[in-house]
Amino acid sequence: MADTLTVNLGERSYDIRFGDNLVDDVRSLVSRLEGEGRKVVALTDANVFRTQRDAIRAMCGGNPTSAVEAGENAKSLIGYGAVLDFLASQKLDRRGVLLAIGGGVIGDLGGFAAATWLRGIEFYQVPTTLLAMVDSSVGGKTGINITAGKNLVGAFHQPRGVFISTALLRTLPPREFAAGMAEVIKYGLLGDAELFAQLERTPLSTGSAELAGVIRRCCVAKARIVEADERETAATGGRALLNLGHTFGHAVENVAGYGSYLHGEAVAIGLHAAAILSQRLGNISEADVLRVVNTLEAHALPVRLRQPLSFSDLREAMLRDKKTRSGALRFVVMQKIGQAATRGDVPAELVEQSFAAVGAGR
Ligand SMILES: NC(=O)c1ccc[n+]([C@@H]2O[C@H](COP(=O)([O-])OP(=O)(O)OC[C@H]3O[C@@H](n4cnc5c(N)ncnc54)[C@H](O)[C@@H]3O)[C@@H](O)[C@H]2O)c1
Ligand SMILES: [Zn+2]
Repeated sequence: MADTLTVNLGERSYDIRFGDNLVDDVRSLVSRLEGEGRKVVALTDANVFRTQRDAIRAMCGGNPTSAVEAGENAKSLIGYGAVLDFLASQKLDRRGVLLAIGGGVIGDLGGFAAATWLRGIEFYQVPTTLLAMVDSSVGGKTGINITAGKNLVGAFHQPRGVFISTALLRTLPPREFAAGMAEVIKYGLLGDAELFAQLERTPLSTGSAELAGVIRRCCVAKARIVEADERETAATGGRALLNLGHTFGHAVENVAGYGSYLHGEAVAIGLHAAAILSQRLGNISEADVLRVVNTLEAHALPVRLRQPLSFSDLREAMLRDKKTRSGALRFVVMQKIGQAATRGDVPAELVEQSFAAVGAGR
């Protein structure tokens, strides 16, 4: 049974459709667009193209599909250029439509290409990873990485629709599923104590009957946060809360080198660090930190650095991260499990202690 959630953003509003298999729904959309005389192209990556060939063919029909290299590397200036070259080669005009079929990399890269090609064309998201289903496909942030840091170049560009077809997850490697669970656990910690308790009690797996419901619950949470603060301009709280664990996590990804940790793995370590920071600030107990660690570990996620990274490198990476405001680091901390807040006044030694506790060295 398919059902729908509307993300209310005025004229940029769109629907997220949920179902076990939405291939036919995507196909009808494509046919409708073709009927309107609009050119449709699809972007995916090599792994998705290989493992979901039939689904992609069924969704796109004979429309041109470009499969870029799999992995974070595609989200680069070079990868972006290649997508623009593809759109140019297909002579996509301003009524053209891009389908981004893949994980967060394809959504961010395809979305950014759609945001900038001819100053912006429409695009749809068909997420194929758990992370993309619960997080990156919703909210309109698109972008690419440059040497100075992740996602430093990008645009807000809302999709026209999102199709969350959970059958696509059947081919997702377990390590990628776990990485997506880091974002799911993040939603529990930042705003949904009941969800966290459920995950703590019964860890989720690809086969869990609860999976579809949990994905929907995360999308509702993200949609509500994005509706209230679409461009992350709220002085406190707002969309920034979705960055729980990410100030630490992005620094880990940047210093270790993109690709050493999956985004979700870095976020898991970051959530642990954020829990320790919250405990040192007196907000949560040591027992709460342990609950966070146990729940991450029960979902096959790392909670400590595999190899020590230097604290000064991590600190520099955090300062380069765009989430800093006029040079001051802002952290998302837990007030309690299931409630987060932004803090701009965190003492540097507490940050260092939190990093040390997850394995950072001097
Ligand atoms: N825009 C946002 O709001 C937002 C939010 C969170 C994360 N992100 C970004 O998302 C990216 C991470 O996304 P991701 O974790 O989905 O990574 P990803 O897109 O690289 O996908 C992970 C891996 O799984 C493979 N894969 C994808 N779907 C598959 C399937 N159904 N079967 C088999 N293999 C499959 C991919 O080829 C890739 O190797 C990062 O770049 C991050 O910055 C963006
Ligand atoms: Zn994330």
